Amino acid sequence: MKRPFAMIAGTGYAVPKRRMSNDEFLALGLETNDEWIRDRTGIRYRYVAGPDETLTSISTEAARLAMQAAGVTAAELDVIILGTASADHLLPSTAVEIQAALGATRAAAFDLSAACSGWLYGMQVAEGLMASGNAETILVIGGELLTRIINWKDRNTVVLFGDGAGATVLKRSTKGRGILSAYMRSDGTLANLLHRPKGGAADPSTPEIIAEGSDKIHMSGREVFKNAVRSMADACDRALDGAKMSAADIDLLIPHQANVRIIEATAKHAGIPMEKVFVNVDRFGNTSAASIPIALDEAVKAGRVKDGAVVLFVAFGAGFTWGSMVVRC
Ligand code: UT7
Repeated sequence: MKRPFAMIAGTGYAVPKRRMSNDEFLALGLETNDEWIRDRTGIRYRYVAGPDETLTSISTEAARLAMQAAGVTAAELDVIILGTASADHLLPSTAVEIQAALGATRAAAFDLSAACSGWLYGMQVAEGLMASGNAETILVIGGELLTRIINWKDRNTVVLFGDGAGATVLKRSTKGRGILSAYMRSDGTLANLLHRPKGGAADPSTPEIIAEGSDKIHMSGREVFKNAVRSMADACDRALDGAKMSAADIDLLIPHQANVRIIEATAKHAGIPMEKVFVNVDRFGNTSAASIPIALDEAVKAGRVKDGAVVLFVAFGAGFTWGSMVVRC
């Protein structure tokens, strides 16, 4: 069998109601400022979920928009995959809660844990299910409520992350559209550089763990930065090689949105000028698994993904996990 098997038929995204600016961290007593955050990360705003919002609610909203764009009903969905590191409950998966909210009665549903690479991993798993003939229509969501799992007293992480969900409907490929190449890797030897040290089954939560914040995200920013640039640059090369394409064939690069400096370094390595790179980290912060599908939907709505356009996606996240994909849209 030969690619492409699976094409993107519709996209959508949703964010919580509350938008938070950099200046608002001052009111929380954190030693940080708008200038530092903008200079070092490019971030100006992020969305923060309120008490009435859940990962299920924003992911379901994103899913409905993507299904509407694709002209697909809930009854047609064969599989729902949610890439997330911030599930609503430890058991069961948030994907089954979305399945219930959508009324997708025929769909299998599961969460996929690959941190910021969750959507990209999910797309590749979905492609495999379609290639094997086990599914025709798959919903792949990247969704996070990261503001619920960060330490609001830690300036190293709190200014970086935001909440949101992006959804993509995959259908059988027609007219040569779809995933042309795909690449995924991981390196668990570096897990300690970006993780939640405690609070899982190995070290269940105690009042001490909660008090010291070791159940929240901890990150060695500088090390993560270096690894992100190296791995995303390599992943771009791999996906281009896989598609037998060069940088000149790419109409748009949609990278994971963690830091504008990482995005610029990745684009430079790939030989793709910044005019062909989609950046929205300034308005959303790092939404982990949601970042690429949110950016894709914004790019589609902005008219930057023309019919037949070739898009290069690249992601990197905790694990470490990383990967890339070339898609004819
Ligand atoms: O989604 C995938 C995973 N995440 C990422 O890809 C993020 C990767 N890392 C980064 O984006 C960057 O490393 C950061 C934005 C996190 C940090 O930028 P940096 O240029 O690497 O700064 P740094 O960690 O080297 O810190 C520089 C200084 C430190 O002070 P000293 O030790 O030089 O006195 C930090 O304590 O900046 C300080 N700092 C802050 N200052 C003001 C750290 N956070 C803040 C802050 N406000 N929010």
